[in-house]
Parts: sequence; C-alpha cells; structure tokens
Amino acid sequence: MTVIVTGGAGFIGSNFIFHMLGKYPDYRIVCLDKLTYAGNLSTLAPVMDEPNFRFVRGDICDREAVFKLFEEEKPDIVVNFAAESHVDRSIEDPGVFLQTNIMGTQVMMDACRKYGIRRYHQVSTDEVYGDLPLDRPDLLFTETTPLHTSSPYSSSKAAADLLVLAYHRTYGLPVSISRCSNNYGPYHFPEKLIPLMIANALNDKPLPVYGQGLNVRDWLYVEDHCKAIDLVIHKGREGEVYNIGGHNEMANIDIVKLICKALGKPESLIAYVADRKGHDMRYAIDPTKIHTELGWLPETKFADGIQKTIAWYLENRTWWETIISGEYQNYYERMYKDR
Ligand code: NAD
Ligand code: DAU
Repeated sequence: MTVIVTGGAGFIGSNFIFHMLGKYPDYRIVCLDKLTYAGNLSTLAPVMDEPNFRFVRGDICDREAVFKLFEEEKPDIVVNFAAESHVDRSIEDPGVFLQTNIMGTQVMMDACRKYGIRRYHQVSTDEVYGDLPLDRPDLLFTETTPLHTSSPYSSSKAAADLLVLAYHRTYGLPVSISRCSNNYGPYHFPEKLIPLMIANALNDKPLPVYGQGLNVRDWLYVEDHCKAIDLVIHKGREGEVYNIGGHNEMANIDIVKLICKALGKPESLIAYVADRKGHDMRYAIDPTKIHTELGWLPETKFADGIQKTIAWYLENRTWWETIISGEYQNYYERMYKDR
C-alpha cells in the first residue's frame, strides 16, 4: 500500500506520518510538501532515512509535478493535509489560501482521476460550519449542519469540501472528508494559540488574548485526530463526511491561564488585544457518526495532553526557537504590534 501524504512537514501531517510508519511498517509513505513558512523538514528528520519513507518537495498546485509523482509512485491512498491553515494570515492576505486550499485540491483529485486511486481523503475543518452561540451549549456541529463560513480560510476549506463531493458525484472518485476541531500537541507551529502562549510565556513576553478571551474551541490531542483519519481512510464509507472532535470545549482565557500556571508564570503577562475580525465565537463537534460507524473515541484527556504538549515544548526548544527567530519575527510584528 502506497500512501501520499501532502503537507506532511506541517503540524498534523507530520504526526500522521509518524503514526502511519509506526503502525503499518509494510506501507510506503510518500510526503509531498512545498515547505512553506509552516513546513519544517527538521520535523521529519527522525523518519527521513526509513526505507519505506520518501520526502518530495513540491507544490500541490503544480499539476506537472503532481502527475509525475503519481506516475512514479502509483499511490493507493492520498491524504491531503496541505493547506494554508492560519485564520489570521487569511484575513491579511486571502489569495494564497484560495490557490492552495481550492486549486491544489483540484490538482490532487485530477491526478487521482487520471491514475486511479482507492481513496482520496480530504482533511477539512469544523470551521466550515461557522460558529455557535455561547448561550446554547446544546448546539453542536453535525455532518448535516449547513456550511456557513466566516473567514477566507474557512471559506477556502468549504469550497474544497464541495469540490471533493462534486468529484465523487460527477466522476465517481472514491473520496472521504473529515472535519476536525482544534488540534494541539507536538510540532504545532508557534503562530497558533497554544504554542504561541507557551513560547511567549517561556520568554516572559506578553500573552496576547483576542477580545475578552471568551471564544470557545473544542480541543483534541493531535494523535487522536491521526487515529481517526487512519480509521476513515481504511474503513470509512466513500462519499461520506466524518466529524472529529473531543467533547472538550474550553474558553481561550482558561487555556492561557492554565499554561501560565503549568509554567509557573504570572497571569499579569496576559494582555487583552484587539479582537480578530469576524472572530468565530464557539466551535463544538458532535462526533457520534465516527463513533457509531467506526468505533472512534478520543483517548487523550485534555489534562494529560496539555501536560505532554508543554513538556514537549520544554524539551524541544531548538525546534520552536529556530522558527521564531527567523521570518516569524516580521509576522509577529505585523500581527501584534500596536494591536
Ligand atoms: P500547518 O500549517 O502546520 O501545515 C501545513 C503544511 O502544508 C506545511 O508543511 C506546508 O509547507 C504545507 N503546504 C502548504 N501549502 C502547500 C502547497 N501548496 N503544496 C504542498 N504543501 C503545502 O497545518 P496543520 O495545522 O497541520 O493543518 C493540516 C490540515 O488540517 C489543513 O488542511 C487544515 O485545514 C486541517 N485542520 C487543521 C486543524 C488544526 O487545529 N491545526 C484542525 C482541523 C483541520
Ligand atoms: O477548528 C479547527 C481550526 O483550528 C483549524 O481549521 C485551523 O487550521 C487552526 O488554525 C485552528 O483555527 P483557530 O483560529 O481556532 O486557531 P488559533 O490557534 O489561531 O486560535 C484559537 C483561538 O485563540 C481563537 O479564538 C483565536 C484565539 N487567539 C489566537 C491567537 C493566535 C488569541 O486569543 N490570541 C492569539 O495570539
């Protein structure tokens, strides 16, 4: 079995590659990644010399390169993680989000149509459903919740989802889609809430909380997401969407306070800053379908997962310090100075 994993030098894709190589030693895993600012080859260093792993630097929008790779590898399964993934960057500059997240998905699926595939899997997000109110804890996103996006990022992901379902209906492409809630864990790029707060707290820098910090996200440990995708690509039904989430809703401010406490840093580091434009209030996933059909349940409790994550950032300072010492400084200045 040959599996092409796009975006495998990023946060979730790299964790997925480690999971797959560990669980299926007879599979060949091919990572296709452009190595944008979010991709990091050092993340894949532990598996780079594995005989059943190949890394290819390339853009999922590059039709010629993608088709050539399919000719060489004849993949059985494609799992498409490659995307521009940060909401704040999409608000600043939407163009590349439409290009990679929509057009890149088209190129990958065109290659699947041309060369044949057992399964094309699209890694999507709960953000395609928009948001939920804080005062209706009974409301959760199900797979039939209408798409109702807020940001250029979530709109590009929703557009891709529609295209994936269109390729299934029109061309019979054997597809599946998973829509997951917020992940956390090792190798999370430090522009995102949890790693940003850990890195800033360790450097005694202000912790920039958007608005009042009351927005709620449904946090899932990244390994649990990877296990869910593994189940969907092997046992999930073609043409279906599966929601993935941990029943673990938390307000941003509570997460930031928890990080301060775990690191022995004062809450006086917290700085309330201007809110994100169009900021989604609450995400909450109903994972009943993947549980009843495929038996998936999250295994890592948030209390354990966040401790493991903090320990990982303490033990792997070089990984994130290298990132935040480069071009990231310009990004940080643009995004947070005078905010
Ligand atoms: P990330 O930003 O950490 O990694 C993205 C990876 O894709 C990087 O390695 C980057 O180099 C690569 N990439 C970007 N553009 C590319 C292109 N044109 N061609 C090839 N490679 C390209 O993202 P992530 O947080 O790991 O998210 C992975 C996927 O999961 C995304 O599709 C995202 O929408 C989805 N998702 C993320 C979360 C989350 O909480 N992070 C939750 C649900 C779904
Ligand atoms: O829900 C899944 C989505 O989760 C994925 O599709 C996205 O790719 C991923 O980036 C994530 O999106 P969010 O916008 O929820 O994640 P982020 O870490 O950017 O922000 C989480 C919350 O924290 C959000 O309410 C904004 C807030 N925040 C974020 C940053 C970076 C702050 O208050 N301060 C910050 O500095």
